[in-house]
This record gives sequence, structure tokens and C-alpha cells, in this order.
Amino acid sequence: MNCLLGFFAIFLVVSMSAMASVPRCPILMHEVRPCLKFIQGSRSRAPSEDCCEGVFDIYKRVKNKLDRVAICSCIKKALSDVGPYNASRIPLIPKKCRLRIILPPIDRKFNCSKVKV
Ligand SMILES: *[C@@H]1O[C@H](CO)[C@@H](O)[C@H](O)[C@H]1NC(C)=O
Ligand SMILES: *[C@@H]1O[C@H](CO)[C@@H](O)[C@H](O)[C@H]1NC(C)=O
Repeated sequence: MNCLLGFFAIFLVVSMSAMASVPRCPILMHEVRPCLKFIQGSRSRAPSEDCCEGVFDIYKRVKNKLDRVAICSCIKKALSDVGPYNASRIPLIPKKCRLRIILPPIDRKFNCSKVKV
């Protein structure tokens, strides 16, 4: 009986954390990883091709504001443990990649629910 209760407790925790997270987040983190060099270093003039492709891949999948907020939260989380970086270089990525999308300057204090539609 105890064993069964334990099983259900674990099941509940697992399903709750699955609901709270964005399913595509690990994929997104992988895609934006090549962009780190650009936002961390003031010396790299342009983001790499891998970075541009990653950003393009992400934005192909964006359908609505909820997606944008989720992506923003994911990027924010990914950037929270990479050390210092220059957030004002993030909006430069789509510009340098010639993508007609907007990336906000996401830093630790950035409020992802304020992402533009
Ligand atoms: C951050 O990046 C912007 C845009 O490239 C640049 O103008 C600014 O000087 C950088 N800030 C720091 C602290 O490196
Ligand atoms: C972020 O913005 C939303 C909407 O404006 C607001 O409700 C929320 O309290 C803000 N969160 C933080 C942490 O500032």
C-alpha cells in the first residue's frame, strides 16, 4: 500500500514538472548555443552561420505570443548560467543574420511576459 502511494507521488511530481516546462526548451538551448560567442565577446563582429540558422529555426516555429514568451523564458534560463554577456548584442543577431524578426535584449531582469507580439 505504501509502495503504491509512493508511486503515485512520484508520478504526480513528474507530470507536474512536465507541464511547467516548455517541451522544446532543450532543443532551443541547443540551437542558440552557437550564438554565445557573439553575445559574450565584443570582438566577434558577426554571429556564426550556425547561430543564424539556429535563430531562424526557432522563429520558423513561432506561432503566437505564448510561443515568444516561452522562447524568451527558455533563452533567459539558458543565459542565466553562462557567465557575463552583453544583452544589447542579442537584438543585433537577427539584424546581422538578415532575419526580419525581433529579439529582445534578454538579461537577468528582462520580463519575458512583456515580449511583443
Ligand atoms: C555591448 O554591445 C553593444 C553593441 O555591440 C556595444 O555598443 C556596447 O559597447 C557593449 N557593451 C559592453 C559593456 O561591452
Ligand atoms: C512582468 O510583466 C507582467 C505584465 O506586465 C507583470 O504582470 C508581472 O508582474 C511582471 N513580472 C515581473 C517579475 O516583473
